[in-house]
Amino acid sequence: MSRARTAVLVSGSGSNLQALLDAARDPGFPAEVALVISNVAGVRALERARSSGVETRVVDHRRFDDRESFDAELAGLIRSRDCSIVCLAGFMRILTAGFVAAWPDRVLNVHPSLLPLFPGLHTHQRVLDAGMAIAGCTVHLVSRNLDAGPIVAQAAVPVLPGDTAERLAARVLVQEHRIYPLALALLAAGRVRVENGRVLLDAPLPDPKQAVAVPDRA
Ligand code: GRF
Repeated sequence: MSRARTAVLVSGSGSNLQALLDAARDPGFPAEVALVISNVAGVRALERARSSGVETRVVDHRRFDDRESFDAELAGLIRSRDCSIVCLAGFMRILTAGFVAAWPDRVLNVHPSLLPLFPGLHTHQRVLDAGMAIAGCTVHLVSRNLDAGPIVAQAAVPVLPGDTAERLAARVLVQEHRIYPLALALLAAGRVRVENGRVLLDAPLPDPKQAVAVPDRA
């Protein structure tokens, strides 16, 4: 089986990267992490990649005059390593439309809210301020608009009495680690199709426990 070569873009701790690396250790997983790029030097995500024997590169966005030239450098690296999927995993830069168009419906992002609710930053505090009873996370395909692309997988997390943004974030993160590998597997296996801005799965998931996390529109 040939596995989809995947580039992961990171900026920090890389716990989602770790979830992808762990999943890809299974030879039956349809994607392999072939390259990890960070825009910040010295972050934990880079150590995680190295420990798994994955090539790492640092591309500091501050070296570039504009977003286009930064993205062009990223795109060149990713192309040169023959990656057909790009995963954003805590990558704190907004990509240009040109970059996104180079991998149509092949760029995934994980976001710590139930999109389309709470796009952008400080999601957990905003969930608490809004008095929500349910929080959660989303893996979506990246489109031109921030945090607005077609949804591949979601998981809900209850807000508990006395929650702080930190406590809620920690529980949401556990679910991110569950649904990101699932979404990557679906995309890499060619089971994700996009129609009218929505994800269609080509077949039901084998494990009904997982099916709660993806749109039921097969
Ligand atoms: C995650 O909460 C992710 O949803 C958000 O940034 C955080 C990254 O965490 N985009 P990590 O670097 O994967 O640990």
